[in-house]
This record gives sequence, structure tokens and C-alpha cells, in this order.
Amino acid sequence: MLRYLTAGESHGKCLIAVVEGLPAGLKIDTETMNAELVRRQGGYGRGPRMKIEKDEVELLSGTRKGLSIGSPVSLKIRNLDYSIEDLPELTRARPGHADLAGAMKHGFHDMRNVLERASARETAARVAAGALTKTLLKEFNIDVLGYVVGIGGFLATAIPGDPQELQRCRDSSPLYCPDKEAERGMMGRIKEAEKAGDTVGGIIEVAAFGVPPGLGSYAQWTERLDGRLARAVMAVQAIKGVEIGLGFEVAERLGSLVHDEIFYDKIPLSPPLEKGDIGALKGLTSGFYRKTNNAGGLEGGVTNGEPVVLRAAMKPIPTLRKPLSSVELSSKTPVQAAAERSDVCAVPAASVVVEAVVAFELASAFLEKFGGDSLQEVKRNYTGYLGQIKGL
Ligand SMILES: Cc1cc2nc3c(=O)[nH]c(=O)nc-3n(C[C@H](O)[C@H](O)[C@H](O)COP(=O)(O)O)c2cc1C
Repeated sequence: MLRYLTAGESHGKCLIAVVEGLPAGLKIDTETMNAELVRRQGGYGRGPRMKIEKDEVELLSGTRKGLSIGSPVSLKIRNLDYSIEDLPELTRARPGHADLAGAMKHGFHDMRNVLERASARETAARVAAGALTKTLLKEFNIDVLGYVVGIGGFLATAIPGDPQELQRCRDSSPLYCPDKEAERGMMGRIKEAEKAGDTVGGIIEVAAFGVPPGLGSYAQWTERLDGRLARAVMAVQAIKGVEIGLGFEVAERLGSLVHDEIFYDKIPLSPPLEKGDIGALKGLTSGFYRKTNNAGGLEGGVTNGEPVVLRAAMKPIPTLRKPLSSVELSSKTPVQAAAERSDVCAVPAASVVVEAVVAFELASAFLEKFGGDSLQEVKRNYTGYLGQIKGL
């Protein structure tokens, strides 16, 4: 079973991730993880904290000579802004944060005890854990790409269907948005909000290409991959909605305009499976295909061979420079909410986090199906399965 835990406070010594269940023989390099951490810290609209931190992974266990050895991989990201012991008390709860609910839950008078762990700084550890699983998925030609498709009501419409082109467009955008035209409007919204001391949210899309059919299960509700993905994505700070495929739009359309019809072509759509050579595989080899992907690659909680596509709605950042009304915790007098250093828009950063948690969930389902104790064994199992579905 692939799983992970994170630890660490926003202004504590460091963040920690422990990832258990990776097969032995997987390349583990800090460079790949650091590149993802840089992306998480970037994106237009972020606040001053990200200028202080320069996130870098230090591997603590589970690897030798650059490869995983089948034991838990643990890693650390140091906080340059380590100041938790000296920070002032927080007694003016910020609406939209865990401050007040956490204080009532634990009986705290100083809500900093809540803020420090509830903060999205924790997502750096999730991104590092996700990067490990992206490396694993890449071994099987599975690419997971997260990008921004909406900010403050401005929506992207031109999204390339080709993964390479999509990645190229995303990576050349300061908002991680593949649609240049929409990006201009989004930038304008962020600038307006910043001027007004306000914040904006948006929509993130994640597409996973090359996912084989058969991941997840319809046999037990806890194993449905749609549910597992929704949980992982919803558990990212500030995410308030998750849609798979057409999502909420299914409620408005007729059935004939929702369900993806099934076709078959004797000639495989992709290069044929070469004996034992996973590297030669590109996407589908079963011959079954769809002309639409309204289901977002999932039917009955199981992947169907089409790209897995989901969207997440992020709320506007709750800490406002022009603060909202609140109540002082001990005196119960009306006050303005505390205004910590904050982002105006963190949708691009959140797209990196959502991508990471989706990659982790897909890798987890992948290893459940093809799992082995070494990468070689997983590849053997995967190759055998592809042969099986091809001959269906
Ligand atoms: C990448 C990322 C960066 C964030 N940055 C901030 C921030 O600078 N200031 C802030 O108030 N909230 C920020 N948030 C949102 C809060 O962490 C989140 O709204 C809060 O912890 C309450 O959790 P909830 O929105 O899930 O209920 C960020 C979220 C993410 C995913």
C-alpha cells in the first residue's frame, strides 16, 4: 500500500514527508522534487513569504545510490523563516481560516497553535511526496499535468489536447494557464483585487495521460478511484469543489449528450507493445476508444483508458489586507481580523499541489493493480496486463 504522512508547522524548523510503499529501484533525485517545489512557490499573485523561502528537499531515508530501496522514504524541507517560538499570539480569528474552529476544538487561547499547522505551507511536503510518484508514473509513460483554467471568473477556453503542447503552454505562463488570451484577463483580475486589498480564487484542471484501464474498483465504495481522487483533492487547503469529467454539467444535459460512446479499431491507436519495453508504450493499446471523454476517464470508479480529467474550485485567499470583521477571543469585543502576510491569488501554486495529490492517488491505485517489491517486478506485471487487454 502506498501512503504518506506529513508533519511540520508553517514557521517551525521544517516540513517532513514520509512516503511508504514505493518499490525498490525507483530513481529518487532531489532535483526533480526541487523543480516541483519551485513551481509551487511561483505563479503570479503570491505574497512576500514565498520570497523568503527557497524550498529544497533533503532526503533522510529510504534511498541508496540514487535509488529507492523499498523502505520508507522520508524527506525534509527546511523553513528559512523559522520563528515559531517568537511569534506573537493570534487572538483575532480570521474568517475562512481554521483559527476559531481549531481554538474551540483544542481549547487554545492562542490561535497561532492552529494557524501554524493548518497553513498551506504544509503543501510543500505534499508536493515533494507527489513528485516521487510522478517519477514512478513516468516510468510507465503516465503524465499528470495540473494547470489553471479560471481565475476570478475569467475562464480559459483554448486548452491543447496534446500533453507536450499543454505542458509547453502551461510552463510559459506566469499563471500556469495554457490559454494566453484568458491569461490576460486573469492577470487583470488579480491586479484589481490587489489594489482593493482583496483576494481571488479560481479553477484548476488536472489531466493524467497514458493511464491504463482498470485502476480503482467498482467492487467496494472505498476503492472507487473517483471517490479517492475527490477526497485527496478536496483535502487540499482552500479547495471547495471537485468535478470529474463534465462534472456538474452532467445534470443539465440529456444522457445521449453525456455518455461516451464506445468504438473499436483493430489497428491499435498507439505503437504496438514491444516485448518488455515499457518505454515504447504510448497510451492505449487495447483498440477500444471513445470520441468524447465526458466521463473524465472514469466509469464505475475504474479508469477506462481515456485521460483522467478533473477540476477543482479554489476559494479566494481568506487573509485580506482590508480585513473582515471578527471577534477578539478573550474579550469578545468586535475587532478586525488579523492580517498575516498573505497571497492575493494562489491558484497557480494550488495547481501544483492538486497535480501532486492526483499523481499520488493514481500511483497508489497503479501499485495496487501492478504492485511488486521492485520496479522491475511492477514493469513485468504491467507488461503482462497490457498484453492481456490487447488480446481481449
Ligand atoms: C498553495 C496555497 C497557498 C495559500 N496561501 C494562503 C495565504 O497566503 N494566505 C491565506 O490566508 N490563505 C492561503 N491559502 C488558503 C488557506 O490555507 C486555507 O484557506 C485555510 O487553511 C483554511 O482551509 P480551508 O479553506 O480548506 O477551509 C493557501 C492555500 C493554498 C493551497
